[in-house]
Amino acid sequence: MSKVTVVGAGNVGATCANVLAVNEVANQVVLIDIKEGLAEGKAMDIMQTAQLMGFDTVVTGVTNDYSKTADSDVVVITSGLPRKPGMTREELIGVNAGIVKSVAENVLKYSPNAILVIVSNPMDPMAYLTLKSLGLPRNRVIGMGGALDSSRFKYFLSQALNCNANEVEGLVIGGHGDTTMIPLTRLATYKGIPVTQLLPAEKLEEVAQSTMVGGATLTKLLGTSAWMAPGAATSFLVESIIKDQKKMVVCAASLEGEYGMNDIMIGVPVIIGKNGIERIVELELNAEEKAKLAASEAAVRKTNGILTELGVL
Ligand code: 2OP
Repeated sequence: MSKVTVVGAGNVGATCANVLAVNEVANQVVLIDIKEGLAEGKAMDIMQTAQLMGFDTVVTGVTNDYSKTADSDVVVITSGLPRKPGMTREELIGVNAGIVKSVAENVLKYSPNAILVIVSNPMDPMAYLTLKSLGLPRNRVIGMGGALDSSRFKYFLSQALNCNANEVEGLVIGGHGDTTMIPLTRLATYKGIPVTQLLPAEKLEEVAQSTMVGGATLTKLLGTSAWMAPGAATSFLVESIIKDQKKMVVCAASLEGEYGMNDIMIGVPVIIGKNGIERIVELELNAEEKAKLAASEAAVRKTNGILTELGVL
């Protein structure tokens, strides 16, 4: 029996619970929210699709009662406010830091062995806050950002190549921010062919730029931040844990010397299995990519510094 809890029944949390159920990633999914009735309603709505979609996963909703989340294998934290048009993810830190910290503490009381997946923004600092404040080993705290950003990168590449996005490979490393993420165009491929051989440099730069502001573009269009791809990317990551798939996914991981960094959580490719982060994959980056990663590191560290100013760390 596998059990996944999703904290936060807003757009991202509910979509994640829905994809987890439709794909039968776990036997049981618990959706929890502070807003009276919201998680119960979303869970019931999802369950009324079970006969239509043909899934057996049982989704239940609960208001604020963490005892119902007990013994989860994986807990996804989506709590906090999403950004509004014109905002950066970093601007959410003042509101979301306290929320994420108290949610993580509550979660751990009932699921002391769970792997925690952090989705709340600003994601890299929220993952770092969770890891540091709970004192967990680094394999058990994973930040979900790179799975989403890489999926957006593959989408924009497929648009430029006029091809099927499932035949494109690409990684986006660094922070999950409009200016901190790094789409690795040099390593992206279409059916094994480097995209640098298929698209002119200017087009690749355009694809990279569209990827970086992918979330902001949707926030402007929707009036709030996106949820379909964020929810699906989170389910994709959770599936690799629950089913011990050992997929290589870009996630915010705590680095201990890898990429020359320490005491930070930032997006790098990792192997994800039943123990969470099982291995960090060190890519051979060129000088330009290293410089971009150093700038991304500095920006993430700066936002992490605010956690101390806020008194949460
Ligand atoms: C996004 O990029 C919500 O940060 C998330 O859409």
